[in-house]
Amino acid sequence: RLPYTTLFRSRGPVRTRFIVGNWKMNKTASDAGAFVHRLSQELPHHAGIQIGLTPPFTALHAVREALGPASAVLLGAQNLYWEDKGAFTGEVSGAMLKDIGCQFVLVGHSERRQYFGDQDSWTNKKVLAALRHGLQPILCVGETLQDRDSGQTDLVIQRQLRAGLAGIEAHTLPTLTIAYEPVWAIGTGRAASPEQAVPVHRLIRRTIGELSGTDIGNHVRILYGGSVTPHNIADFLASEEIDGALVGGACLDPVSFATLVKVAIGSKPTTV
Ligand code: PGA
Repeated sequence: RLPYTTLFRSRGPVRTRFIVGNWKMNKTASDAGAFVHRLSQELPHHAGIQIGLTPPFTALHAVREALGPASAVLLGAQNLYWEDKGAFTGEVSGAMLKDIGCQFVLVGHSERRQYFGDQDSWTNKKVLAALRHGLQPILCVGETLQDRDSGQTDLVIQRQLRAGLAGIEAHTLPTLTIAYEPVWAIGTGRAASPEQAVPVHRLIRRTIGELSGTDIGNHVRILYGGSVTPHNIADFLASEEIDGALVGGACLDPVSFATLVKVAIGSKPTTV
């Protein structure tokens, strides 16, 4: 069963929006209960969109417990290792994440690529490992400022996509989510404009279509990430190309994150 609702209309598939709050290396397991309690107070019961949280490994269990079994909020991890078990000190496998109650996992976040050496070949193994364990991967791609200034954005995005998705069966592609996160927009307060983001989202969709030889690109959710706030989320979601957001800084306060989610629930896309 695919983790999204596909409602066909004349304009094509409707992709359920997905807003993910990435805690990065913030908050302890002890912080989890109060955060989840406050978030649950603020969020409507039937959001009509998907909401996800990626706490650090150490807080996954506490967040799972605080959410409870019936919560609509999905639990994800920020990274995984591709082997299932063994002598890999310091690493966490897909099997372990699944066992602790994760439903999805970020792969290839630019901070992993930048500070921890995650390469395209690794992201590919991580995507495959996630799928093997029934975790929905969110593959993050994005160009640096240098790439953009030298006109390399499209090349870099296509390389990251083709390498990251190598060997994945076409029928599995719709279960993936892609996050377009321009590196220069992450944590800088300098979000890309929708005019900058939308052409890259189209390129991602087209590239996935080419990889699969079908119209599957139309079914894949593509999130925008990089300095998303409650104030600018509606501008991104105004485009039909942008299916949600990966949010860092603005998700650390539960009220700010809930406000952002509520704007996402209320805003309507327009065909562009
Ligand atoms: P930011 O982070 O919202 O703080 O820019 C986004 C991300 O890294 O996913």
